[in-house]
Amino acid sequence: MASSTDNTSVTWKSRWTFILAATGSAVGLGNIWKFPYITGEYGGGAFVLVYLACILLIGIPVMIAEVMAGRAGRADPAHSMKKLALESNHPPYWVLVGLIGMMAGLMIMMFYSVVAGWALEYVSQSITGQYAQQTPEEIEASFSALLASEPRQLVWHTLFSIMTGLVVAAGVTKGIGRTVDVLMPLLFICILLLIAYSFFEGDFSAGFHFMFDADFSRLSGEAVLVAMGHAFFTLSLGMGAIMAYGAYFPGNASIGKTVLAIAGMDTLIALMAGLAMFPLVFANDLTPGQGPGLMFVTLPIAFSNLPGGVVVGGIFFFLVSVAALSSSISLIEPGVAGLEKMGLPRRTSTLLLVIIAWIGGIASIQNGAVFDALDYITANIMLPLGGLLIAVFVGWVIPKPRVLTETGMSDGLAYRAWYFSLRFIAPLGIVVVFLNSLGLFKG
Ligand code: PHE
Ligand code: NA
Repeated sequence: MASSTDNTSVTWKSRWTFILAATGSAVGLGNIWKFPYITGEYGGGAFVLVYLACILLIGIPVMIAEVMAGRAGRADPAHSMKKLALESNHPPYWVLVGLIGMMAGLMIMMFYSVVAGWALEYVSQSITGQYAQQTPEEIEASFSALLASEPRQLVWHTLFSIMTGLVVAAGVTKGIGRTVDVLMPLLFICILLLIAYSFFEGDFSAGFHFMFDADFSRLSGEAVLVAMGHAFFTLSLGMGAIMAYGAYFPGNASIGKTVLAIAGMDTLIALMAGLAMFPLVFANDLTPGQGPGLMFVTLPIAFSNLPGGVVVGGIFFFLVSVAALSSSISLIEPGVAGLEKMGLPRRTSTLLLVIIAWIGGIASIQNGAVFDALDYITANIMLPLGGLLIAVFVGWVIPKPRVLTETGMSDGLAYRAWYFSLRFIAPLGIVVVFLNSLGLFKG
């Protein structure tokens, strides 16, 4: 009796730990900074629809597969995949998928930490009230000035790298639970407030139409690739972060609904961020395609006009920084867990990987082309490729009966729809988007 009660409570706790950690990983700069700006660059509506289709048809199936593989392997992605491959009588080469994923995590960190640094700079600008009196033009110029200043970016990038290292060194689950539990809802409220502001003060109708009116004739193969790549990036898929966290998922609980909740939350926050920003773009004669500065220009304009705006702005940029932190730790964690398993102490592993990422970050501060290349190669090539291989691994390598038991789902419609998507729709979809971006389907 007593022991069964204990088990239930342990199970519930670790499932909740998983939800908090995975949501913390998923919700980050990808939603609030990247999604709105690439939506702006790739023309709005049609891009958003392709992104949503990729979340549903590719992202969610692959996420279930990653959680399952992590829970079944109970180790870092490289060791988990090696172990599962051997147990399925396949060669151990699948370890490479885990290793490449860990590298992708480091490469993402090399620009992620720089952008998180910008968010920290805007916390400080809010505290000093810098943008409170500025015109939209001045706010735009002040973001360009930040981009032109290597020392200022370096300070914040270094601070963010240290914060990431401290949390990872302490062990991911210890610090993250409370943070995500309390701060995510706050972030949600802040974005709602910004949407309300946009609704009354911005050109809400123009922003809404920009995001949801789809004109597929203007959609390039490249735009489709970026939309798919972002589906992976925003859900933290294809590099093992979610697989590493899958180890916190309790033994027999079903994975499906939990993954739907996490993906739904992530998508909702991205769409809300877009609805907060685009109405301000059109009301202030900014251009939707202005690039990575979108959030750092539109939102300070809103805050500068709000009563008490710098306080709200300070809180908002602080919350964005925390969301970035709960994502960045998951970029480093798979590699750290892997090195730890090979016998290196956690602290040493963390120090090593954070220093590598920090040096790469300096390169992307100094050279915008490095920044762009890291972003492009990871999101649009490495993550989808990793996702493809994970889908093939779980869909075709691990024996069918084992997959069913390990997901904890019952053999009903939902399970079958997932398994079919994982084996056919997701891999084919990824390949078709790749080929299409190379221009192969044009006459
Ligand atoms: N999902 C995170 C975001 O949207 C970024 C991320 C990508 C984190 C890959 C971990 C792994 O900001
Ligand atoms: Na995200």
